[in-house]
Amino acid sequence: MSPSLATTVGGVPLTSCVYNASGPRSGTAAALSKVCQSRSGGVLAKSATILKQNGNPQPRTYHAGNSLASFNSEGLPNNGIDYYIAAGTIEECMASCDDDSKPYMVSISGKTLADNLEMLSRIAKAPSLSKIKAVELNLACPNVIGKPIIAYDFEQMKSILQEVSSAMKDTPLKLGIKLPPYFDGPHFQQAADILNEFDGSIAYVASINTLGNSLVIDPHSEAPVISSNQGFAGLSGQAVKYTALANVRKLRLALKDSIDVVGVGGVASGRDAFELILCGATAVQVGTCHWTEGPKCFDRICQELEELMESKGYQSIADFKGKLKDWSREGADIARAAAKKEASSQGGTGTKELKSSGSDNNTNLILALLVGLLAILLADKLSNGALLPF
Ligand code: DHB
Repeated sequence: MSPSLATTVGGVPLTSCVYNASGPRSGTAAALSKVCQSRSGGVLAKSATILKQNGNPQPRTYHAGNSLASFNSEGLPNNGIDYYIAAGTIEECMASCDDDSKPYMVSISGKTLADNLEMLSRIAKAPSLSKIKAVELNLACPNVIGKPIIAYDFEQMKSILQEVSSAMKDTPLKLGIKLPPYFDGPHFQQAADILNEFDGSIAYVASINTLGNSLVIDPHSEAPVISSNQGFAGLSGQAVKYTALANVRKLRLALKDSIDVVGVGGVASGRDAFELILCGATAVQVGTCHWTEGPKCFDRICQELEELMESKGYQSIADFKGKLKDWSREGADIARAAAKKEASSQGGTGTKELKSSGSDNNTNLILALLVGLLAILLADKLSNGALLPF
């Protein structure tokens, strides 16, 4: 029997722990219906503002290093909250799903607290309310010109959470909070202390959003490659996985158990998902890889995760969630042996014991040449009775 990827996020059941991040390919019902048709465990819409908006001018995205690092300064292009909560939109998104239980979720990123409260009030009054399982409040957008990242301002974050949690208390909706990456020890603790104050209201945090204010320069034009916001943009993709792993780990250790952590950032393989779950994530979201590969990435990542779990004898997410081990000499030996096996199965030159390395080959060549030369000299001496001059 193949392992189960089923999980729950803040009490919402998902048949697969891999689903789409709010961001690329999530702005329209047509795009979301493709997510729904894939093995994505849920369908999460693009961060909405009150009104439809086009976002920042083009060019506003860039992929570097074969998509190892991607950049966006989109400025929240979206169809407006009414579109994402309209019964017709949700119907179009979800009609093509095989799995009737797949949850539909929305994300809000108001320009002000009043905007967020207005959007929550519209969601709570929407005729389609029962079809919306969660609201992800984005406190981490780095690309709205003139607006700092809210979750870096702890005072503001706390007052927003007070208002939002009281506005949501009579709704059946689960509240998720999208967080930016933190980098300094005390910041993780400060953020977690505030989030823990709302442990009855916050169902999950999604960590991490893009690394804000990154810059790509073109040396030919001697200018940024992105036109808006002086070229400053959020960094995402495989390059940020290591920051995501650390954020998920630190938050999982500091948050109360009632708040789930969803890992986001650089997930492009089953192994990436596995590592984030080891750090304590209950599910993972895929953003940049969905952008570059399209919705078939969900099928591939799920299959890779299942294969990895099977190879380890894990039957469920609970078998390894949060079970990251401490470093040990024994563990390092296991890692080294596995790397050796992998290199040899790929016909690589990673192991001196199994295959001689490049420098060994050179030594052998020099030795062979010397032996050959010696043989010539000896033959010459034997035939002429004298050594050749050098
Ligand atoms: C955008 C970027 C983000 O990182 C985000 O969380 C929401 C929106 C954007 O620029 O559109």
